[in-house]
Amino acid sequence: MSQATNQSWGGRFSEPTDAFVERFTASVNFDQRLARQDIQGSIAHATMLARVGVLTDDERDAIINGLSEIKGEIERDEFEWSVPLEDVHMNIEARLTDKIGITGKKLHTGRSRNDQVATDIRLFMRDAIDVIEAELVRLREGMIELADREAETIMPGFTHLQTAQPVTFGHHLLAWQEMVARDHERLLDCRKRINVMPLGAAALAGTTYPIDRHVTAELLGFERPAENSLDAVSDRDFAIEFTSFASILLMHLSRMSEELVLWTSAQFDFIDLPDRFCTGSSIMPQKKNPDVPELVRGKTGRIYGHLMSLLTLMKSQPLAYNKDNQEDKEPLFDAVDTVRDCLKAFADMVPAIEPKKASMFEAARKGFSTATDLADYLVRKGVAFRDAHEIVGQSVAYGLRTEKDLSEMTLDELKQFSATIEQDVFEVLTLEGSVAARNHIGGTAPDQVRAAAQRAREALATLKGGAL
Ligand code: ARG
Repeated sequence: MSQATNQSWGGRFSEPTDAFVERFTASVNFDQRLARQDIQGSIAHATMLARVGVLTDDERDAIINGLSEIKGEIERDEFEWSVPLEDVHMNIEARLTDKIGITGKKLHTGRSRNDQVATDIRLFMRDAIDVIEAELVRLREGMIELADREAETIMPGFTHLQTAQPVTFGHHLLAWQEMVARDHERLLDCRKRINVMPLGAAALAGTTYPIDRHVTAELLGFERPAENSLDAVSDRDFAIEFTSFASILLMHLSRMSEELVLWTSAQFDFIDLPDRFCTGSSIMPQKKNPDVPELVRGKTGRIYGHLMSLLTLMKSQPLAYNKDNQEDKEPLFDAVDTVRDCLKAFADMVPAIEPKKASMFEAARKGFSTATDLADYLVRKGVAFRDAHEIVGQSVAYGLRTEKDLSEMTLDELKQFSATIEQDVFEVLTLEGSVAARNHIGGTAPDQVRAAAQRAREALATLKGGAL
């Protein structure tokens, strides 16, 4: 057998792999990121093999010690990765055999790289999800606390990006919080299906050794062994689920980003973002650009791309493992990094938002945002809603001609449009009156926002850490 032929499967080959093909098929440059999980899986596998009598205790100990040393070499960046050895699995196994001799070759008894890699990715994703969840929790906490603080702050609410009705800033922030709360649930739901163990499926059909998959599953903290060996080695639907979660989350973050970008503009002037989240322009000295939300908005595109590439990767693949599956890692790794960083950016930034309350209030006062309140007032006085709508429409037209908001008109001016209007109308035409009147669950009244913030805190405490 030629030196250049991969030692672990070179037996039936009569010529070495073409140099380009070797590079083309190798994954070690990116799958070395699975090293920690690969070693964790191998230690559990060796422990199980000794438990069922396939390895002796001495062999198990030699393997575990060797693997622990290799882990140290990798962590200290002393490990020499080899492309001819193809992937993370064979690099580590070859190094183990270097170190402990023939016993190293026994580690692969009763398993295949097919169940090994499927197990490694699931372990990796479980760890990644836990880090991502911590950032998501931090973001939710930040949103809830800011909302509580800003329960009385009035801003315009929009539909079609046109001033619609006044809302409280706290209410707006709790709308964001609801979006990410559902993302949180989706993440934990995805984690449940990730936490199932492929190991023991071997290449595709299982193995003839008397393995105990419950032992390995328990050692690795998996909920249970995967039910079917063909499915266990081949499906990557969990990667698709994760990138679906990521796509929906980034879609939400892009909506929030868009609002932050609008709000920091001179035209809106609703909030200030501290300088540390912004950058300047090399040519226009006055500029302070909201780069962080803009980048999060932009990164949404690459996450959608990863979802699309994984869906397409899996489409039409026959059972069981196919080399196509090696293409799952790069999109998945990038999705994990991007989601973690975007969440970190948001979790740091949201509590630092400084609302410009006077400017928000002034914007809400413009644009006849209490017109619906006037219509509701007329209905309470016995006018039919359609007639009330018409009366208020005429008042607004008058306001546009005379450049007066409804609350700035005198009682006589308002009475031109309906004799039913009396002095008490001014209570409903104020912004404070308008928001306070929407006083039911889900409404924008300050009392409701404070109560909703409290419920959100409780919901978060129950969900945190996976109690779905
Ligand atoms: N590097 C491969 C992957 O990521 C590992 C599994 C290879 N299995 C095989 N039979 N070629 O999918």
